[in-house]
Amino acid sequence: MTTLTGTTALVTGASGGIGAAIARDLARRGADLVLTARSEAPMRRLADDLATGCGVRVAVEPADLARPGAVADLVGRLDARGLAPRIVVANAGFGLAGDFVAQDAERIAAMLQVNIASLTDLAHLYARRFAAAGDGYLLLVASLAACQPDPGLAAYGASKAYVLALGEALHVELAPKGVGVTVLSPGLVDTGFNAVADYHPPAAARVSVLPAERVARIGVEALLARRASVVAGGLNRVAAVLSRLTPRLLSARMIYGSRGGG
Ligand SMILES: NC(=O)c1ccc[n+]([C@@H]2O[C@H](COP(=O)([O-])OP(=O)(O)OC[C@H]3O[C@@H](n4cnc5c(N)ncnc54)[C@H](OP(=O)(O)O)[C@@H]3O)[C@@H](O)[C@H]2O)c1
Repeated sequence: MTTLTGTTALVTGASGGIGAAIARDLARRGADLVLTARSEAPMRRLADDLATGCGVRVAVEPADLARPGAVADLVGRLDARGLAPRIVVANAGFGLAGDFVAQDAERIAAMLQVNIASLTDLAHLYARRFAAAGDGYLLLVASLAACQPDPGLAAYGASKAYVLALGEALHVELAPKGVGVTVLSPGLVDTGFNAVADYHPPAAARVSVLPAERVARIGVEALLARRASVVAGGLNRVAAVLSRLTPRLLSARMIYGSRGGG
């Protein structure tokens, strides 16, 4: 296992789910951590656990990434505390399920702010610093939903298609500058995601559900190996390949049908 002693990692969306699992994985490798999300109490509990269990230093900086300008504020606070991450994990995100026309406009805007705009701000700010230093790692969390149009999760899927395209492009731009950029695309993961999104996956899809710990390990290993992109889980990798081979509108209609639409 690669050791990360002396490295600081910033993890967004670290109050639960995949983000908390990535924080645990990085701490087991010896990384000091900065945890951020809106919910402070679970991050404080995680920080105590990791400081005691792994002997690493863990800082908590709450932030609401649905607020424009939140990333600049957050990074300003980290700079003031002398916290200089060498690994940045842009994991915070949420979904909105159901028909697009039935969704609340403010929730859509908040989702796009978290999933796209704040993620871009964070990637831009640290990519600049990493490129100047000739060192650093960015892990962007997309989704299997990024692979094709996603009726029933339309704006969410489109936001993750942005993350996948951004991350793979940055991988190519930044590799010659010594910066590793990796996109992690999970399929269904056992977290709070479905409850927040009000998403009820078709029963047949449940065989592919992975625990957050496994997804975290896959993402961190791909990051440290400087891979461009990784889909978590064998069944999900097959689904990603099939979606590339299938005409996009046919994929979209099949997905919508499997969700009871159309
Ligand atoms: N679970 C899945 O099936 C699945 C599949 C594919 C991709 N993903 C992606 O994986 C990532 C993590 O999701 P998860 O499955 O771990 O879901 P989760 O358990 O709901 O965790 C989402 C995290 O994002 C944070 N977050 C949400 N809104 C935020 C905001 N306005 N400001 C700051 N932080 C915010 C949440 O913290 P607070 O609520 O405390 O702010 C939480 O820590 C997301 O990007 C998601 O799209 C998940």
